[in-house]
Amino acid sequence: MKVKRAFNFYDVINTMVTKTPKFLLEGQKTDRLIFRKLEPDDFDSWLPFFEHPDSTKYLLKFANSNPLDQCKEWFDRVFMRYNNGLGGFNVVIDKRDGTFIGMGGLQVQTVDDIPEMEVGYSIMPEQRGKGYATEAAKKMPGFCL
Ligand SMILES: CC(C)(COP(=O)(O)OP(=O)(O)OC[C@H]1O[C@@H](n2cnc3c(N)ncnc32)[C@H](O)[C@@H]1OP(=O)(O)O)[C@@H](O)C(=O)NCCC(=O)NCCS
Repeated sequence: MKVKRAFNFYDVINTMVTKTPKFLLEGQKTDRLIFRKLEPDDFDSWLPFFEHPDSTKYLLKFANSNPLDQCKEWFDRVFMRYNNGLGGFNVVIDKRDGTFIGMGGLQVQTVDDIPEMEVGYSIMPEQRGKGYATEAAKKMPGFCL
């Protein structure tokens, strides 16, 4: 007699993965910064990053060329990572006054079929040159290992 399962293993695993984003730094702090998850409402805060010509000079993977589409692509990628347990960028804010400094995070990347952890960071144009990228990046390996 065939026993009908009350649940589907794939659904259970999928729920565990999607409800528990991995490798995020939510709540982690440095001297000046605090990390939190990206929210859809952050879109307008992050759009000026793409409006600055220097921002995408070295981010060659962006297929889109106008800031609005680039920002949408960024959000899609981050939420895809959250939903698949592949890490993703966190918002990095100034812990004194909540200023939006930029984003940084751990991302699982597959290189030559081997999953590797990448440390990524990007800083708002007006916040560059203050050591924030270094400060955020230093927190990440220590948190992950
Ligand atoms: C690349 C990028 C992340 C660098 O951001 P950043 O915050 O300026 O980088 P750093 O943390 O290394 O800051 C170092 C600078 O801050 C200065 N600084 C000021 N206060 C500092 C402090 N308290 N501690 C350390 N450095 C400090 C340093 O002297 C240095 O100045 P310099 O660049 O004139 O030599 C930023 O330009 C960016 O977002 N670019 C576009 C996106 C991108 O390329 N991302 C990286 C690819 S993943």
